[in-house]
Amino acid sequence: MYKEGKAAIRQQSAFLNSKAKFIRDLSVGFMQIKANKNSNVIDATGGTGIRGIRYLLESKAKNVTILDMNASAVKAIKANALLNKVKPKIVKISFQEFSNSSKEKFDFIDIDPFGGLHPYIYDAIKIAKGGSYLMLTATDTAVLCGAHRDACVKLYGAIPIHNELCHEAGIRILINYVVGIAAQFNFGIEVSLSVFQAHYFRIFIKLVHGSKSALDSISRCGYVSYCESCKWRSCRIGVLPLQTKCENCGSNAKAAGRMWLGNLYNKRDALDLLKYFEKNITEKSEISMMEKISEEYDSLFFYSIPVITKSKKIPSVSPSAIIEKLKAKGYLATPTHFDPDGIKTNAGIKDLDRLVDKLGEKH
Ligand SMILES: C[S@@+](CC[C@H](N)C(=O)[O-])C[C@H]1O[C@@H](n2cnc3c(N)ncnc32)[C@H](O)[C@@H]1O
Ligand SMILES: [Zn+2]
Repeated sequence: MYKEGKAAIRQQSAFLNSKAKFIRDLSVGFMQIKANKNSNVIDATGGTGIRGIRYLLESKAKNVTILDMNASAVKAIKANALLNKVKPKIVKISFQEFSNSSKEKFDFIDIDPFGGLHPYIYDAIKIAKGGSYLMLTATDTAVLCGAHRDACVKLYGAIPIHNELCHEAGIRILINYVVGIAAQFNFGIEVSLSVFQAHYFRIFIKLVHGSKSALDSISRCGYVSYCESCKWRSCRIGVLPLQTKCENCGSNAKAAGRMWLGNLYNKRDALDLLKYFEKNITEKSEISMMEKISEEYDSLFFYSIPVITKSKKIPSVSPSAIIEKLKAKGYLATPTHFDPDGIKTNAGIKDLDRLVDKLGEKH
């Protein structure tokens, strides 16, 4: 028997992945802070049913539908629901087919497929209404992070980044994809939380109804131009990448996008989730991950300090020492959950360069 949160799950299922516990804890926490007894919830890719079952056991939600198109998964979901004495509505059907025939709208739509989200977003938004939350997992990080550039262009309509910034860029490309489809249904978006962990992207997005919101979200997407040579970067909203020359060293810059250039976190939600983790979760690693996310300065992209020192051919410098120096100079600077050696700051590459040089000299 596998135990997680208040749920007990029969372990024979091939769909049970204990490595996804942090992402599930995050989702249960999200439901705890957002859902109420009237919330209509769908766990669209149930597997063992662990998510939907935990939502029933650990949040105020009472109406939970769990789908899976695989017969043995549905068998496991039914057995696990019985075991945990909860009564979700369980349906053996593909999510797309369900969405096509559904008259119901859902307040929380959780999708956790194997691989990419692109085949699911359209159908997810079809069963949403203004104020609904999309809770989405993607594991096609190789595509979104540029190992398969052409696949990213085809599936997400975006040029990915294939360097140290790839994970943040990947999550921003994914959000841009949701923005585009949401706009077709006259929804804009508000990002509540965006998390990268192991090979998972998890995003929590609220849909806001109205043409103005839809256009506003579209206007928060654009491109990043970045210089491989000196690590300069610049973000531009719009429909075309504009910058081709690095403003710092004059090299040719590369462009990536379109991608979401808005915020990745809602600070209030991140802090509420941190409180949930501190109260309910025993794993220190999970709490410190949530701490990092809630404290992260929500800037566009981060600097990887080892990448900078390596390109300068100088000894490595501690990212925390750089953060302290930046703060002393009046800049905002924090670690980032995207990279253990990365920092988010409002300082530009010129100031960062000077600090890295100075600290590098001391070694
Ligand atoms: C990654 S597993 C889900 C794991 C589960 N959410 C958890 O946290 O343990 C993906 C599940 O989605 C199901 N699935 C994949 N595509 C689907 C679709 N289009 N409609 C419904 N279920 C689908 C698979 O059969 C599988 O059980
Ligand atoms: Zn440059």
